[in-house]
Amino acid sequence: SPTYRIAPSILSADFARLGEEVRNVVAAGADMIHFDVMDNHYVPNLTIGPMICQAIRPHVQVPIDVHLMVKPVDRIIPDFAKAGANIISFHPEATEHLDRTLQLIRDHGCKAGLAINPGTSLNFLEHVMDKLDLILLMSVNPGFGGQSFIPHTLQKIAAVRKLIDASGRDIMLQVDGGVKTDNIAEIARAGADTFVAGSAIFGKPDYPGIIAGMRRELAS
Ligand code: DX5
Ligand code: ZN
Repeated sequence: SPTYRIAPSILSADFARLGEEVRNVVAAGADMIHFDVMDNHYVPNLTIGPMICQAIRPHVQVPIDVHLMVKPVDRIIPDFAKAGANIISFHPEATEHLDRTLQLIRDHGCKAGLAINPGTSLNFLEHVMDKLDLILLMSVNPGFGGQSFIPHTLQKIAAVRKLIDASGRDIMLQVDGGVKTDNIAEIARAGADTFVAGSAIFGKPDYPGIIAGMRRELAS
C-alpha cells in the first residue's frame, strides 16, 4: 500500500499560539505542515506570508508545504524558499508562464506543486509532468477552511492518479479541502496519498487522537 501523508493546515490553528500549535500537531504525528497563503486578490481572504513561515521553521522538523493562493506568484517564491519552505504549490491561473514558475521553485531548491481548483481543467498538467513533485487537487474552492468536500472531486482524483502512474514519476497526490476522518478512506481509494486537513484537526482538542483515527481509516 502507498505511503500516506497527513498534512494539517494551520489555517485553522490558533494564530495567537502558532509555535505551540505546530509543535503539538507534529508531536501528534503530522507528516508535514500545510501553510495556506492567501492574498485577498486571487482568493477573497488574507492570511500569512514568508515572515510567519520563517517564524515557525525552527519549531518543526517536518517539511513545510506552502500552498500559494496569490497572484502574481513568481516574486514571492524566493522569499518562501529563504523562509524555509520545502514544497511550494501554486495555481496555474496565477502565472502567465506555468513552466517558468515551476522551474523557479526548483531553482530555489524546493519541490514544486501545481494546485488545481474544482473547476480547473487537468489539461494544465499535460506538458509539465516532468517538473512536478506534487499535484494539489482542491476539493473545495480555495479561500476558506471549514468547507464541505465536493464529491465530484473523487473522479478527478482517480484521473490524476492515472496520469501520475502513466508518467512513472514519483509525484505526490495531495487532496485539500473538507478532508475528515469519515471521508479520508474514500479519498485514498480514489488515489490520493497526501491529505490536507485543517478544521478536522485544529478544530478538535485531541490532535493525536484525530490523526491516529485518520491513519486507522487509511489502513482499513
Ligand atoms: C482552502 C485551503 C485549505 C484549508 C482546508 O483554501 O487551501 O488548505 O485550510 O481546510 P479544511 O480542512 O477545513 O477544509
Ligand atoms: Zn491549502
